[in-house]
Amino acid sequence: MKSLAEFVRSTPFFVIAHRGASGEAPENTKSAIELALHGGALMVEVDVQVTQDEELVVFHDHILGRTTNGHGKVANTRYEDLRKLDAGSWFSPEFAKEVVPRLDEVLDLVAGRAYLNLEVKPLHENPRSKMLIQQVVNVIQEHGHAPYTVYSSFDHEALRLVKVIDPLAHTAALNVPGDSRLPSQVVGDCGADAYGCSTKELTKKKSDDLRRHRIPWGVYTVNTDEELEHALEYKVGSVVSNLPGNVWKMYEKRKKQ
Ligand code: G3P
Ligand code: CA
Repeated sequence: MKSLAEFVRSTPFFVIAHRGASGEAPENTKSAIELALHGGALMVEVDVQVTQDEELVVFHDHILGRTTNGHGKVANTRYEDLRKLDAGSWFSPEFAKEVVPRLDEVLDLVAGRAYLNLEVKPLHENPRSKMLIQQVVNVIQEHGHAPYTVYSSFDHEALRLVKVIDPLAHTAALNVPGDSRLPSQVVGDCGADAYGCSTKELTKKKSDDLRRHRIPWGVYTVNTDEELEHALEYKVGSVVSNLPGNVWKMYEKRKKQ
């Protein structure tokens, strides 16, 4: 695999599987990631959080209720209890055996097959944030996946910490809704290498600024042909999608037209 930097330089457009292929399987589970990889996704996005006993797990919400049969906060739950939860039935009964995966398990699945976009959920309320970021970076490095990983976050302090721990790490600043700074300023202020925002936040001013400063960027979330058309009008370099295989086919069809 090319390094992430080389991949981004040489790939004019790519689709990132959002929480795996989360339109086809329960988000952030091994099934969703496997489906994304089988569908040809070149990059997979997942969310990382920490349990009460400091296990790194791949999970989106701060609370358990939406996507598992548990309740309460991830941060207040021990890993052995989290692991007993059903993380798939909410999506469909056929996924009843899905569990909340650890970050290292996800890396075992992805390593050597795709680039990883690892979204670090905001840690600023956690006094142990530096240690936790260190743990995340360690796991990525232990799996030899540092050259193929981009750390993304709405928590720009977390991204700064990633760079302190590993100056060669790639980071992407996710725009905090309501932030009116230009992308080049957002990225400059936290030393990030790339930028992301929602499709609703897309403007010509942002797109011009990103292209003028040659900053790699992407938008979330693009699932339909109309949404893809909208994103492409702004000349985005990547889109985050729950249906990565479908959106890639839509892109290829558009290219032929
Ligand atoms: O990659 C951007 C996207 O994942 C951020 O939003 O809420 O889906 O984690 P969210
Ligand atoms: Ca995410």
